[in-house]
Amino acid sequence: MESYSAFAYVYDKLMKDVDYDKWVEYIEKIFERYGAKPKNIAELACGTGNITNNLAKKGYNLIGVDISEDMLFVAQEKARNIGVEVIYLNHDMRDLVLPSELDVILCICDGINYIVDEDDLVRVFGLVYSHLKEKGLFIFDISSYYKLSNILGNNTYAENYEDVSYIWENYFDENKSICDFDLTIFMKEGKLYRKYEEAHRQRAYKEKEVLEQLKKIGFQKIEIFEAFTFSDPKEESERIYFVCQK
Ligand SMILES: C[S@@+](CC[C@H](N)C(=O)[O-])C[C@H]1O[C@@H](n2cnc3c(N)ncnc32)[C@H](O)[C@@H]1O
Repeated sequence: MESYSAFAYVYDKLMKDVDYDKWVEYIEKIFERYGAKPKNIAELACGTGNITNNLAKKGYNLIGVDISEDMLFVAQEKARNIGVEVIYLNHDMRDLVLPSELDVILCICDGINYIVDEDDLVRVFGLVYSHLKEKGLFIFDISSYYKLSNILGNNTYAENYEDVSYIWENYFDENKSICDFDLTIFMKEGKLYRKYEEAHRQRAYKEKEVLEQLKKIGFQKIEIFEAFTFSDPKEESERIYFVCQK
């Protein structure tokens, strides 16, 4: 079953409570912290372009990469509507090939959790490293082990609007550190609703195991933070940022 197919067209509606301006502000604060003045940025797993288009609007050159054609379709339409130019590429980040050396590579809002196989994780980190300039930054976040195992895992969520409703049933496998999300979406078509089903799978990583892999790849400096702060993550932090300098 595909992920981010029908879901692409309701993603923004269901993410309405996420303050993407604040997320972009935080990313720019990270640039400042590193004295970085990036020109060329790629966002992996860019989805519907909420961060990509926002950064492009601020004058950076952006490439957005995503495995889902539908998410990219929405991203491109939004870029056109606000009059920004972004190169959107339909790629699996596990086979990343980008045209140039980049100042910054981003992967924001769980992209790394979707890499469920540890060998693939190492592969992605290696590809990111090879696409960065010296001193370039790789900035990504993860939904924490705590969030996937204790909050989302083994829980059901539902939202009900006039034109769309969804049910999200989650199962956490402690032995494999895998959270499976079974998503049922009802979208209005005329007077009836069409039902769509999708399966999403994320891996719950502990910070230590991610750090080990990043160090092996050769990043010179790695910092981790509780999201939107420059403080250490806490036991119950739900989103954790990694900032890695080549
Ligand atoms: C939760 S969305 C995040 C989208 C966007 N970054 C945001 O902040 O709204 C996760 C995205 O990861 C993408 N994705 C998952 N696995 C991927 C892969 N192997 N390569 C590229 N994109 C991937 C999905 O298609 C989806 O668009």
